[in-house]
Amino acid sequence: MKVIKKIDEMRRAVSGIKSRGMSIGFVPTMGYLHEGHLSLVRESIRKAGVTVVSIFVNPAQFGPREDFKEYPRDLNRDSEVLEREGVDYLFVPEAGEMYPQGYKTYVEVHDLQDKLCGRSRPGHFRGVCTVVLKLFNIVNPDISFFGQKDAQQAAVIKKMVADLNMNLQIVTVPTVREPDGLAMSSRNTYLNSEERKQATVLYQALNLSQKLWAQGEKDAKIIRQQMTDLIQKQPLANIDYISIADAVTLEELDVVKPPALVSMAVRIGETRLIDNVVVGQRAN
Ligand code: PAF
Repeated sequence: MKVIKKIDEMRRAVSGIKSRGMSIGFVPTMGYLHEGHLSLVRESIRKAGVTVVSIFVNPAQFGPREDFKEYPRDLNRDSEVLEREGVDYLFVPEAGEMYPQGYKTYVEVHDLQDKLCGRSRPGHFRGVCTVVLKLFNIVNPDISFFGQKDAQQAAVIKKMVADLNMNLQIVTVPTVREPDGLAMSSRNTYLNSEERKQATVLYQALNLSQKLWAQGEKDAKIIRQQMTDLIQKQPLANIDYISIADAVTLEELDVVKPPALVSMAVRIGETRLIDNVVVGQRAN
């Protein structure tokens, strides 16, 4: 695996790959990799000729009171893991080159970016779209992979790609879970043992929504209320939002019909966790 830090060098590698007629699969990450990331990597290796993974903790997507500084980082371990997986290129750009002094251009996907997580993280998706578009411009992938766990991020990126006529395919890969159902996330490392136990309530609430829907309950308000009651039984849990929305437009639904995205953000102690399921599908 070749590790590249400079944008120019990445561009040269991309030209070489393209001139050999090979397709590029791209997995953008912020590092501190877990099985969720590796499922994206494996999908890319399966589908594309060459796989590029980027690791960049993107300052533009963190709010002023968010965890940019504390965000877990371990480049050595990540490189070893990616090498073992058979990744071809690891791109680790520097913040100074991605956002040089005087940087002024940002990408916004209106409406979609303001819903769900966008409400309590203003500017987050603007930062995500900006960095993803920049990375796409550098890596020039044919196909790029995003986790279903970040369902709103995947929806926003798909809309950006469609609206800007970008010539690549976006693939969403199912959420990878711990044995007790907790969705894998780099932020799970923030949880102490009591918080970790209570964090499984997100998965339980998603399963409850699936069960209610399968039993014939179609009223979004009733399903949301039952999920809320279940989550509030956990003393360390604080609900940011529970949403039942159209999976593409993210518009809230009164009557639940597939494909409906049941999603939530819940603080367990200080740690904000997100999770979701698409109704009519098993909570994977
Ligand atoms: O999902 C993430 O890790 C990040 O939001 C992404 C897509 C790498 C952009 O910084």
